[in-house]
Amino acid sequence: MDLTRARAWETLTRHTRSEALRRHALAVEASTRLYARRFGEDEELWGVTALLHDFDYEIHPTLAKHPQDGAPILREEGYPEEVVEAILSHAEHLAMPRDTSLKRTLFACDELSGFVHACGLVRPDGIDTLEPKSVRKKLKQPSFAAGVHRDEVYAGAQLLELELDDHIRNVVEALRPIAPELGLRAG
Ligand SMILES: [Fe+2]
Ligand SMILES: [Fe+2]
Repeated sequence: MDLTRARAWETLTRHTRSEALRRHALAVEASTRLYARRFGEDEELWGVTALLHDFDYEIHPTLAKHPQDGAPILREEGYPEEVVEAILSHAEHLAMPRDTSLKRTLFACDELSGFVHACGLVRPDGIDTLEPKSVRKKLKQPSFAAGVHRDEVYAGAQLLELELDDHIRNVVEALRPIAPELGLRAG
């Protein structure tokens, strides 16, 4: 198959109507791509994986099904095992080893991209002036973006061997160019 972003977007949007979920996919894609460039990895492959990591969430919204029941669909559509395995590994409940750079990066970008996105939605200028310090402060407020697992945010930075502030800065930088697509205001 042709492993292209256009193909992955088509797969994602065929299974996902929700704008919030599509935006989450775009945010995780942008962050994962930034790290692919930094690490000199295959940006298209990493981007496709990130774009598709929650592709089945709308049809499988429980841990009993997501993402494991999505995997056979991806295989049937011709996605390579490297993509499918990395997607499976983002789920904590499957406890799969994160033994590649792609797996570690996807996991590290998933919750934090969602959280930074949430921070931007409540700021008048979106993420234009968002600093790690205010993200950290919000992380300590359990009621803010309560669905984001804090322990996974911290574990992700550790997995990438980055200071949390540096990881936050990278994710904010990755999301800035796509702020309009994420529904974030510009200052
Ligand atoms: Fe997921
Ligand atoms: Fe996700």
